[in-house]
Parts: sequence; structure tokens; C-alpha cells
Amino acid sequence: MHGGNPENIANTGGLRFEVDGEIATITLDRPEKRNAQTFALWSELTRIGENLPEQVRVVVVRGEGPSFSAGIDLAMFGTLTAGTNLDDQIAEFQRGFLWLRRPEIVSVAAVQGHAIGAGFQLALSCDLRIVTDDVKFCMKEPALGLVPDLTGTKPLVELVGLAKAIDICLTARVVQAEEALRIGLAERVVSREDLAQAVKEKAAELLAVNRDAAIATKRLLQGARGRSLEEQSAAERAEQVLRIRAMSSGS
Ligand code: CAA
Repeated sequence: MHGGNPENIANTGGLRFEVDGEIATITLDRPEKRNAQTFALWSELTRIGENLPEQVRVVVVRGEGPSFSAGIDLAMFGTLTAGTNLDDQIAEFQRGFLWLRRPEIVSVAAVQGHAIGAGFQLALSCDLRIVTDDVKFCMKEPALGLVPDLTGTKPLVELVGLAKAIDICLTARVVQAEEALRIGLAERVVSREDLAQAVKEKAAELLAVNRDAAIATKRLLQGARGRSLEEQSAAERAEQVLRIRAMSSGS
């Protein structure tokens, strides 16, 4: 799955996918168009999610070139019309983003330069974001008369809170590295030269933890917000019983 030539871009939207043991890397590989995202790219993302090798525990999402992603390919603009079944079509696009939250993996976005609109939402779909000191997040959709609809609104509110999310989206302003770190959008800020190494280090840290415990813990953490303290305590017990049983049976 290589980007570059026009035929591959039509098929894959310019995505590259590589697996190295327990780490998979998805690369947006259309730097000359600032990794603008097409419908084909979103289908390809879905396909990658559906066919992810079972051994993969960390999924890195990165972009080639100066920008992580300039958002939706503006050539796609206006091609969705009110006469079609828009709800189904958008649901199909969202599938490409949703799987990145699966408990079986930890997804890490490596974000340099611009992450605009769909680019910002792709980064938000990942569990963690490591960014460069020149990062520029921008939720541009409202400025274009639209809403962010690629599954980014929930993680944004959960990460930064409602007031800050309203501020960021309804002004379509740019969030830079220092603020991204301060408000919880980014785990770490590094220079461009250090980005690949920082992601590698994070992947190694994540892989050092027992896999089944990591999956169960991510499941617990993801469910925490929707549960009462009592329910969450019960969920902790249920997961721990499974862990203790598995460990005593030696698996
Ligand atoms: N779609 C298609 N092509 C794009 C693109 C996009 N979103 N963003 C950049 N490109 C292309 C440019 O047209 C240009 O192509 P040519 O060389 O053929 O002219 C090339 O990429 C390089 O672009 P720039 O010269 O502008 O590069 P830059 O580094 O100076 O600026 C940028 C980068 C700030 C990202 C600027 O390109 C830009 O503002 N792009 C548009 C961003 C945008 O509005 N995206 C849509 C957001 S909304 C969304 O994503 C979700 C939704 O559903 C509505």
C-alpha cells in the first residue's frame, strides 16, 4: 500500500501501512498536498483497521512532509449532496477513525506542522499525541459552515473540557504546541528531528507492559467516564478477577 502515483492515491488515498512486529505504522503519504484526506483514504483506514494483524499492540499514525494533514481534500468539497444518504455515508467515513480507540491497541499520533479539520480529528482519534514544537491544530469546519464529524468532538471535550472545546471550535483558531501541552491535547512536545525517536520510545514503554493487563486496563479507563464510582469499582473487580484467574492458570 504505497502512496505516490495517481493510481495508488485513487486506491489508498495516499496511505502507507507497515507492520514491524507489534508496531504498525500508518503514514499519510501525500506531502505535496499536505496529506489532504480523500474518501479513498478513509476507506483505506477502515480496511487497515479491519485487517490489523493480531500481534499489533501499538498503531502509530504519522504524516510525511511539512504537515501532518491539511484536512479534507478540498476537491472532495461539495461532492456530497443532500440527495444522497448522507447519514450512511458519513457513518462509513467515521469507521476509518473509530477503530483507533480499540482496547487491544494503543494508537499514537505523531503530529508535525498543520493538523487542520479532518487532520485534527485524526489526531484526536488516537489515544496519545506526540507533537512537534511547530504544531498547529485547527478545527476549521465551523468556519466552513460545517461541524467536525469525523469522531473528533468527543475526545476534544474529554481532553480539554467543554469551554475550551467551544473556544477552539467556534473560533477555528490555531492551537500551538505550548497550549496543546498545557490543555492536555499533547502528551509531549519535541523538535521535528526528535519526533520519530520520541514515538519509538513511547511505543517501547507501552510494549513493556503485560498485554492482557494493558487491554483490560484500557477498557476500564475508557468506561470510567460513563460509570458511577460504584459501577467503576465493580468493573475494576470484574477485570481483576479475570486477570487473577488468567495468571493463576498460567496464561
Ligand atoms: N486539499 C487539497 N489540497 C490541499 C489542501 C487540502 N485541504 N491543503 C493543501 N493543499 C495543496 C495546495 O493546494 C497546494 O497544492 P499545489 O502545490 O498543487 O498548488 C499544496 O497542497 C501545498 O499547499 P500550500 O502551498 O498552501 O502549503 P503551505 O505549507 O503553505 O500551507 C496549509 C499549508 C496551511 C495546510 C494550507 O495548504 C491550507 O490552509 N490548506 C487548506 C486547509 C483546509 O481548509 N482544510 C479543510 C479543513 S475542514 C476539514 O478537514 C473537515 C471537513 O470535513 C470539512
